[in-house]
Amino acid sequence: MLLGAATFPLSDLYLLRTVGVFFMQPRNSHTSTVSVVRGGEAYLEGYLLLNWTAVSILTNLNHSKGKYKVRRKQLIAATFVCLWVLLSGDEKISEKTLAMEVTRKTIELPPPRTHSDISLERALIQRRTVRQLHEDPITLSQLSQLLWAAQGITDNRGFRTAPSAGALYPLEIYVMVGHVDGLSTGLYRYHPKGHTLLAMANDDRRSQIADAAWDQDWMAKNAVLIAFCSVDSRTTGKYGRRGVRYIHIEVGHAAQNMLLQVQALGLSAGVVGAFDDDAVRGILDLPNNERVLYFIPIGKKR
Ligand SMILES: Cc1cc2nc3c(=O)[nH]c(=O)nc-3n(C[C@H](O)[C@H](O)[C@H](O)COP(=O)(O)O)c2cc1C
Repeated sequence: MLLGAATFPLSDLYLLRTVGVFFMQPRNSHTSTVSVVRGGEAYLEGYLLLNWTAVSILTNLNHSKGKYKVRRKQLIAATFVCLWVLLSGDEKISEKTLAMEVTRKTIELPPPRTHSDISLERALIQRRTVRQLHEDPITLSQLSQLLWAAQGITDNRGFRTAPSAGALYPLEIYVMVGHVDGLSTGLYRYHPKGHTLLAMANDDRRSQIADAAWDQDWMAKNAVLIAFCSVDSRTTGKYGRRGVRYIHIEVGHAAQNMLLQVQALGLSAGVVGAFDDDAVRGILDLPNNERVLYFIPIGKKR
C-alpha cells in the first residue's frame, strides 16, 4: 500500500528478484508472492515487494546469545531493493511499457459464443489428428472462438476455461496467422484479459517452425499455427519443481479445449510436441523466461 501499484517489465522484475534472492536467501516461499504476471508483463505491487523484503529479513534473523539480529549485508540489500523500487518509480517504467505497446497493434477479437448445435459427445467422437489441412482462410470469429476455448476468461475473478494450479496462469498463446479473413499474416499473442490479439511481427514463420519440428512440413500448410508457451516462473515461484508438472498438465487442458472447439467449428487440427526447443524459441522471439510446449496447426480438412 505504501508505494501503490507499480508496473515492471519482466526483465527488471527478474533482475530485482535475482538480486534480492542472492543477497537475502529467503528460506520460505514468500518470493513467489511478489509477481503476478499477466500477458507477458509483470505487474508488481510495490507493497508486496516491501512485504517480501520484510519477510526475507525476518526469516534470516540470526539467533545469537538469546538475541535476534539482522545480518548487515541483508539490511543493506533490503534497503537497496526498497530504494530501487522507490526511485525506479511508476513513471519511468510505465513510459517504457507504453512505448512498447504503442509499436504493437492490438486487435479486438469478436466476442465468443457460448452455445452451439454440436454436442460435446459429437466433438469428442469426431476429434482426430489431421495432418492434411487446407490453406483456405478461417474467419476472425472462428479464431476468436478457438482462443477463447483454450484460455478465455469465463469469470469475473479472472478464472478461465481451463483450470490452472493456484490460478497463476503460466500459459501464453501465440498465433501464426497464415489465412484468416480480416487479419494480416504474422505473429500475434493472445491476451485473455480483454480478449485481444497483440501483433508481434508481420512475417510468416510457419515454414521455419515446420523445419525446427524436424521437418514436419505439414505444419506450414494451414490457416493458423498455434503455439502454446509457458512462463514457468509464474507457477514454480509458488510450487517449486512440482510447478513444472502442473504446467504440463495445464497445457493439456487448454489444448484439448481448443481441439474440441476445432470440432465444434467444423475445422480440423493436428498436434505437435516434437521440435527443437531452442530453435522454436528463437523463431518466435520469445523472452528467456518463456518456452514453447506444444503446437496446434488448424485449418479446413483437405
Ligand atoms: C504430446 C503429443 C505430442 C505429439 N506430437 C506429434 C508430432 O510431433 N507430430 C505428429 O504428427 N503428431 C503428434 N502427435 C499426435 C499423435 O501422433 C496422435 O495423437 C496419435 O497418433 C493418435 O491419433 P489421434 O490424435 O487422431 O487420436 C502428438 C500427440 C501428443 C499427445
